[in-house]
Amino acid sequence: MPSPGTAPKINSLRLQTHADLNVLREQILAARDPQRSEVVICHGTGCLANGSQKVAAAFKEALAAAGIPAKVTPGIKTTGCHGFCSRGPLVIVRPQGLFYQRVQPKDAQEIVERTLVEGNPVERLLYKDPRSNENIYKENDIPFYKLQQRVVLHNIGKIDPTDITDTIAAGGYQALAKALSTMTPEQVVEQVERSGLRGRGGAGFPTGRKWRSALSAIKKKGRPVYVVVNGDEGDPGAFMDRTIMEGDPHAVLEGLIIGAYALGAENGYLYVRAEYPLAIRHLEIAMAQARTYGLLGANILNSGFSFDARINRGAGAFVCGESTALFTSIEGKPGNPRPKYVRSVEEGLWGRPTVLNNVETWANIPLIIERGGEWYAGLGVPHSTGTKVFSLVGKVNNVGLVEVPMGVSITWS
Ligand SMILES: Cc1cc2nc3c(=O)[nH]c(=O)nc-3n(C[C@H](O)[C@H](O)[C@H](O)COP(=O)(O)O)c2cc1C
Ligand code: FES
Repeated sequence: MPSPGTAPKINSLRLQTHADLNVLREQILAARDPQRSEVVICHGTGCLANGSQKVAAAFKEALAAAGIPAKVTPGIKTTGCHGFCSRGPLVIVRPQGLFYQRVQPKDAQEIVERTLVEGNPVERLLYKDPRSNENIYKENDIPFYKLQQRVVLHNIGKIDPTDITDTIAAGGYQALAKALSTMTPEQVVEQVERSGLRGRGGAGFPTGRKWRSALSAIKKKGRPVYVVVNGDEGDPGAFMDRTIMEGDPHAVLEGLIIGAYALGAENGYLYVRAEYPLAIRHLEIAMAQARTYGLLGANILNSGFSFDARINRGAGAFVCGESTALFTSIEGKPGNPRPKYVRSVEEGLWGRPTVLNNVETWANIPLIIERGGEWYAGLGVPHSTGTKVFSLVGKVNNVGLVEVPMGVSITWS
């Protein structure tokens, strides 16, 4: 939902050019007051399970009861998972950036009165450093966050994933606009090759090499070609892809559209397991909004390039995350894997050249196009570039989601 008072009313929504996208972004940012208070409430699946919807409802009531003048009424923003799930429900009060953890509905009134009205922190809800036993006030000062490098996750926890204007304000779709207005499809593939990005779905296959092989297959076999997002995420305890789809669905979509442009695909599929209803809902909303803004569908940004995508729900079979099983499942048949004598880039979905990449792989693409393959190749280690998102579950102190550079070591202290 758009944060009250922050999204401008735009009459003509369909964007025609990169300049239009920039104007819209400036309008959205100009309509915002950076000093205005905002209560950010995590609505990732973990915090929702811990009651964050009730926390949000309690904040609405407490704000109304406090009778703060309409002009300065704090906005309430709901976001995807901030990563520190074991401390949820999480509430961040901006602009101070105060980080409150394990917030219950009964705490809302105190936060409104003490923090929003008086400007003081509620000490008992702050994170306490287990080593120093001292309260930590801000998210970025908490060791759990301080030691991370949040690249793919950079927007998650900051944007409302159901509001495209929030994504656009944060720089969303800039990479797509750049690719369509200044790059040839070949140049897009070159940047992905240069980035050294490896697929995040498990095998670590170089993404640029896969795309290059698909281009060779297309030369031989012609089009159509398909691009597919693997959002099946069947590994027990894994919720990296779910978090990205829930918290920044436009990043996945933008990556997919850029890939489609590079390969000349007109149709794509997002295969998401049905156990991820929130991810599916947010992707559906994102796709509908992107169509409205002319960022998905016919003649995207008036470039002459058309592409559309649809969501297929997986039925919870682990094997359907494997490429051939996934394709047969999309084709409406039982998701049985088949021997792969011919690679998917040559004969994938419907027997056509197909590029299947994992959710996190696709979500890296906009960053690579916007900042360049060289920039990305500078992250991580030379043979495995970039960052990786990990879910921490089981018998660990800090259950949640972290993003670290590739090559980081696990140390005990
Ligand atoms: C049994 C099996 C299950 C798999 N499950 C997934 C999955 O849930 N998500 C995923 O991205 N890749 C999964 N893979 C890997 C995919 O087959 C494929 O390599 C991957 O989606 C390609 O994307 P990437 O190059 O971006 O990693 C699985 C592979 C096997 C053999
Ligand atoms: S769901 Fe809120 S921190 Fe993960």
